[in-house]
Amino acid sequence: MGEEAGVAIYPGSFDPVTNGHLDIIERGAGIFDKVIVAVLLNEAKAPFFSLEERLDMLRTSTAQWKNVEVDTFDGLLVSYATARKARVILRGIRAVSDFEYEFQMALMNRRLAPQVETVFMVPAEPYSFLSSSLVKEVSRLGGSVSGLVPALVERYLQERIQRKDPGKRV
Ligand code: PNS
Repeated sequence: MGEEAGVAIYPGSFDPVTNGHLDIIERGAGIFDKVIVAVLLNEAKAPFFSLEERLDMLRTSTAQWKNVEVDTFDGLLVSYATARKARVILRGIRAVSDFEYEFQMALMNRRLAPQVETVFMVPAEPYSFLSSSLVKEVSRLGGSVSGLVPALVERYLQERIQRKDPGKRV
């Protein structure tokens, strides 16, 4: 694709960012001119980490890639993509279980904005089972998530879990 590759939006909740997300961001940054990691501003989803915390974790762990930007968005993803002049929505696919939801979203987004293409990438094998929800659950129950999230995220998790009511759902 070379100089035609343009801007890709990598959207999500990132609650918190995992090494699986970072693997996709790194692969995307190697292909596209720029990758915008776009955090959904949706309080209805009742995130575990605040927006500021999620942005801090993302910004710190993507600082080594000069063509990666971290931003927030609200409303329709395709409107944000169009406003940012992005041709591509980048999504990671782990297993067959991800497929149905991703397929629905990709086709709905195409219907809304045919000029925006969804590109799926597959993370490195060690991360193919990884999700933010599992990371929070394992961490809450005292298991180690070392190697699955950046060190900063591990610290955020430990600190948050020590502070919270141990009975809280994640
Ligand atoms: O990785 P996640 O947390 O499941 O991300 C979901 C996300 C943010 C990509 C999706 O919920 C989204 O795009 N929300 C924005 C609202 C929107 O455009 N909805 C229609 C999608 S077909």
